[in-house]
Amino acid sequence: MPVTCVVGLQWGDEAKGKIVDLLTEQFDIVVRYQGGANAGHTVVHGDETYKLSLIPSGIFGDVQCVVGGGVVLNPAGILDEIDGLAKRGIAVGKNLMLSDRLHVIFPWHFEEDRLIDQMCTGGEAIGTTMRGIGPCYRDKVGRSFAVRMGDLYRDNFADRIRQIVEAKNQTLACYSGSEKPLQLDADEIIKNYSGYAERLRPHVADTTAYLLDAVEAGKNLLFEGAQGALLDIDHGTFPFVTSSNSSGVGVSPGSGVPGCHITKVIGILKAYTTRVGGGPFPTEQDNDIGQHIRDRGDEYGTVTRRPRRCGWFDAVASRYTARLSGVDVVNIMLMDVLAEMPELKICTAYEIDGQRTTDFPAHVDDLRKVVPVYETMPGWQEEITEVRNYDDLPEKARNYLARLSELLGRPIEIVSVGPERTQTIFAPTKG
Ligand code: GDP
Ligand code: IMO
Ligand code: MG
Repeated sequence: MPVTCVVGLQWGDEAKGKIVDLLTEQFDIVVRYQGGANAGHTVVHGDETYKLSLIPSGIFGDVQCVVGGGVVLNPAGILDEIDGLAKRGIAVGKNLMLSDRLHVIFPWHFEEDRLIDQMCTGGEAIGTTMRGIGPCYRDKVGRSFAVRMGDLYRDNFADRIRQIVEAKNQTLACYSGSEKPLQLDADEIIKNYSGYAERLRPHVADTTAYLLDAVEAGKNLLFEGAQGALLDIDHGTFPFVTSSNSSGVGVSPGSGVPGCHITKVIGILKAYTTRVGGGPFPTEQDNDIGQHIRDRGDEYGTVTRRPRRCGWFDAVASRYTARLSGVDVVNIMLMDVLAEMPELKICTAYEIDGQRTTDFPAHVDDLRKVVPVYETMPGWQEEITEVRNYDDLPEKARNYLARLSELLGRPIEIVSVGPERTQTIFAPTKG
């Protein structure tokens, strides 16, 4: 499939990294197109586990990796990531390209993230990753204080930073309340960022032109989504979302590749649901069931190690995000985690104010009112981590998967039974 997208359909951490790494050998180019170092994508090769934040999960393959213009980038962070991989024998050179259009994260963004998160969402914090993501996207849309990668190499860079720092120091003082405000030193920032810019110079390019040339030349492109569709700024559980289009609709704005070139969208889902941070979560199991899933699935944030909230599979939310993202097939991940459960529940409808619906509500207050309508299926209660063929899965596991596929209205292509590449089952294609 020449242009394929891998998109998370829940609240992130669906194991997109594993799938991108697995598929990379079929592609020429792997592209991250939105988000930033709020992402934590895990790739496991034998005894080695890699956690990637900004570098595409294709980096272990013989491909060109691209970070598109829709991404927000902390230069010090990506340099650490490059150095960390180099220490482990993974060379990052010309095989990593960074868009000259992507927006740069500065120290004021981290401070704003810390100060603002709890301010205006009605008492419940968004619970951001504190990576400066929201503030950087806010400046991008606001334009006046925005700095793009290409700006780091212009003659007026130092002047711009001085102007912005003066304004930002005033804003930080306002946000700080009774706290002593952080006051930034423009000269230090100019010196540090000029250094980062020099080191990153060989990677910086017009990736929009590069990707357009590539699709027109018939190259195979794999787009790696970050976060999940329920965290999409426009279509997710606003305001408890991230600041980019993390559903399938974000591929074109984030990369510059028009939707007409996309040939396949793969939706990634856990066999249950997790969420990190604040916001409503209708099928959450804040009880022994949730704790059991957390323990078995090691459900702790890849970036922040925060415990992930865990719950049953939500077919209402997932069907909505599969439609929104234009998903052709789904992959069901972490299926092995459910092995010990005597019974499994799937949410098939919502009740809101006594009204039953299978539509996903647009307003967060309606989502908070949801009483999930569950269907119960028997668990299979045997380990499946060693299973490699679909037909060797326990019948009850196959029945569970068949029901998910039916509710989502999409075929299942891959079932994952462990973090390793080998722990992957390709489902038989129908027809
Ligand atoms: P991503 O952000 O979508 O790439 O997902 P994360 O890497 O944040 O979280 C997924 C976690 O599940 C990682 O620790 C993976 O190594 C792990 N994982 C991936 N697939 C499986 C699986 O099938 N079973 C189990 N038990 N773990 C898995
Ligand atoms: P990957 O790519 C899970 C969540 C945060 C918070 C909200 C906003 O690994 O799936 P932000 O820092 O983006 O402003 O935080 O979004 N969040 C994620 N949750 N996986 C992620 O990425 C996430 N990236 C952001 O926890 O609730
Ligand atoms: Mg993750």
